[in-house]
Amino acid sequence: MLNNRLILVGIAVALCVGVTSVYFATRPAKIVLSKSPFVIRFSHVVDNDTTKGKSALKFKELAERYTNNYVGVDIYPNSTLLKDSEELEALRNNKVEMIAPSISKIEALGVKEFEVFDLPFVFSSHAAFRNVINGETGQLILSKINASGVKGLAFWGNGFQIMSANTPLHKPDDFKNLKMRVQNSKARISSMRALGATPIPMNFSSVKDALKDGKIDGLEGVANNYYTQKIYEYQPYMTLTNHAYLTYVVLANQLFWEKLPEQVRSQLDQAMKETSVFANSIAISENDEDMRAIAASGKTKVERLTPQEQRILIKTLLPVHADIQSRTGTDIIQRIYRDAGFMGQ
Ligand code: LMR
Repeated sequence: MLNNRLILVGIAVALCVGVTSVYFATRPAKIVLSKSPFVIRFSHVVDNDTTKGKSALKFKELAERYTNNYVGVDIYPNSTLLKDSEELEALRNNKVEMIAPSISKIEALGVKEFEVFDLPFVFSSHAAFRNVINGETGQLILSKINASGVKGLAFWGNGFQIMSANTPLHKPDDFKNLKMRVQNSKARISSMRALGATPIPMNFSSVKDALKDGKIDGLEGVANNYYTQKIYEYQPYMTLTNHAYLTYVVLANQLFWEKLPEQVRSQLDQAMKETSVFANSIAISENDEDMRAIAASGKTKVERLTPQEQRILIKTLLPVHADIQSRTGTDIIQRIYRDAGFMGQ
């Protein structure tokens, strides 16, 4: 009798612990709102534990410290406030003051120069990427955006993208008839078409459900996002293609930025400058660490391309450069090639 009671109590405790841990694992992180005179609402679509998530938190820490809490920064991660297709409009309509979308999400602004960042194989290393964003070309591209009601503050890189699917991906034939989720950018859509797949542009927050429901067969992305969103659990094969780079552009609402007292703006500029160095320095380790965790999970098979497969992939994707060049003009592409040391692979 006593034993039965003990067993029942044991089961009840185990259920409580189970339910509580599921709740804590799945509930959205609590956002503590700032009471500062100026509040920056900073929305983004990824987890706090990613390059972008950690960098947004770093900006919050530095901005609040340098302004002595005159400016508070409320971070809304993981699409809790806005999906990526809604961010730009919300920024322009003063619903948020800052966002850090990937390049593809700002094509709607019509500043075509940004499209060059999404070209396949244009950066051969992180150093090549940093050379572009820290040089004249990066600053030139960033300044073009200021005419559109938003203020371009910085570029943050999140490293090389890989591909994944329900079936192994080694050669263009493997992509035939696959529905592949892409970010809504001309270069990315064109790249997937060049491989023979059907590109499906979609919000980042919808990817996991689309995989579960079979609406897509695969996608491209960085290890950071595959891991923190648990997307890898729905993709039995991943290939380290490193075919494109994921670039973010940090944007502020232009009026908000301009009406900040000058001293405050320069404190925020300093906070952003330091944050950008931080962001661009953690991207490699963030993604390497998450890739190791994905491989160790045993839930997906992580594969490499042979040198021959890599050559074929490059040859198949390089014609996308000509497509984009017909939209952006040659000058900006040549500048990127020069600063990135692009040799035509
Ligand atoms: C994506 O849509 O795959 C990425 O832009 C998500 C992100 O912001 O890292």
